[in-house]
Amino acid sequence: MEQKADIGLIGLGVMGSNLALNIAEKGHRIAVFNRTTSRTDAFVEQAGDLRDRIIPCKTIEALAEAIRPPRPIILMVQAGKAVDEQIALLRGVLSANDIVIDAGNANFRDTMRRFHELEGSGLTFIGMGVSGGEEGARHGPSIMVGGTEESWRRVEDVLTAISAKYEGEPCAAWLGTDGAGHFVKTIHNGIEYADMQMIAEIYGILRDGLGMAAKEIAPIFGGWNRGRLNSYLIEITAKVLEADDPQTGSPVVDVILDRAGQKGTGKWSVIEAQTLGVPATAIEAAVAARVLSSMKDERIAAQKVFGVAGPGLSADRANLLPDLEAALFAGKIAAYAQGFAVMAAASKEFGWNLPLPVIAKIWRAGCIIRSQFLGRLAEAFATSGSVPNLLMAPDFVEMMNETHPSLRRVLARAVEAGLPVPALSSALAYFDSYRQGRGTSNLIQAQRDFFGAHGFERIDASGAFHGPWAS
Ligand code: 6PG
Repeated sequence: MEQKADIGLIGLGVMGSNLALNIAEKGHRIAVFNRTTSRTDAFVEQAGDLRDRIIPCKTIEALAEAIRPPRPIILMVQAGKAVDEQIALLRGVLSANDIVIDAGNANFRDTMRRFHELEGSGLTFIGMGVSGGEEGARHGPSIMVGGTEESWRRVEDVLTAISAKYEGEPCAAWLGTDGAGHFVKTIHNGIEYADMQMIAEIYGILRDGLGMAAKEIAPIFGGWNRGRLNSYLIEITAKVLEADDPQTGSPVVDVILDRAGQKGTGKWSVIEAQTLGVPATAIEAAVAARVLSSMKDERIAAQKVFGVAGPGLSADRANLLPDLEAALFAGKIAAYAQGFAVMAAASKEFGWNLPLPVIAKIWRAGCIIRSQFLGRLAEAFATSGSVPNLLMAPDFVEMMNETHPSLRRVLARAVEAGLPVPALSSALAYFDSYRQGRGTSNLIQAQRDFFGAHGFERIDASGAFHGPWAS
């Protein structure tokens, strides 16, 4: 009789196939199932040497039969309805103590619901955030697990084996119960949106403000990648800007339509930040920028009416170039401070006890936002755990003090020239508001009291007061 599999996987799209090959490569036998059988056949066909560790299954019953109980089964299907459908099917063929692991980009609220729905059934549910794209899935993603600690212990070996490693440490961890893993993945993506948008804004200043060609911009990012901005996103930006379109011979970036797609995780992170009452303005700006980017026809019409910024910063090139790197770094600090503040608030709200230094550590390799910066962030959280915001961690105070003047100078010039810099300017506005001991909401309170008798507090006495307003 054929030896049973250690684990199963449903959904052989690119991510699912790559994850299955990764699991097989690490020495585990894996049973796989895909609704369209031809895809399963094609997958096995191209599995090469790993073929021996893969059990292809034509039905979900056969899949359950092929795995040694208690069975861990990974779902890598489209987030949403498909996950609920698969769970319903699995309930018919699985038995007590089996674990269903949703590895898609689920909304954590769905994950919480599914976790609690399955609780009484004897089955266990894990919501697992996986980051790193196709390459990561195949050779080592960053893995963010939410579920019971006991269920994590049962799958820890295989998940740490397939995860990315940072200086030998696996980038996989249990982060808390029910929706914790998918929540953290959502915020990872929110930060990813902000990181990408801020890079795109700097690219915009170089392209439209300084009139530089893609090939001239590429080495600038390449150079920054050797310094404190060293990260996967900066690295691929340099590579993207270098690449030529085989059809036209132009830089490929110049033939790509400026309309960004989005699948929802960025938007969810903003919705959750707002619901938790945590400002995540750089992330919000990045999501809004993608929405505006999609309104291509309206933008073309508006350009005809208002005109558009030309390369008005060319004369400033020598001064501006060194500031751009520091500006991006300062913006990055603010965006990460926001993302981590959202996670800290969610941790309290949902009782997860999210280990922020661990999250920073498992993002150091494998995921899309992996960077040198995350190592410094992990250290900052580990050594100054009690700070209310990353901006207040001593190392980051120093870095922010060094770089925010550059962000200020870059933004001043960009705004004057009419170049859109929404995420970078939101980052700076967040920093300036955060560090302002006396803000301007005294006026807001006065207005609220004037029109709605909402009352206000005084600086010199406790209690609620009303103003002497004359109507
Ligand atoms: C990752 C990516 C991954 C995916 C996003 C892209 O961490 O591996 O974030 O999850 O590429 O879904 O999201 P958008 O389509 O919304 O840009």
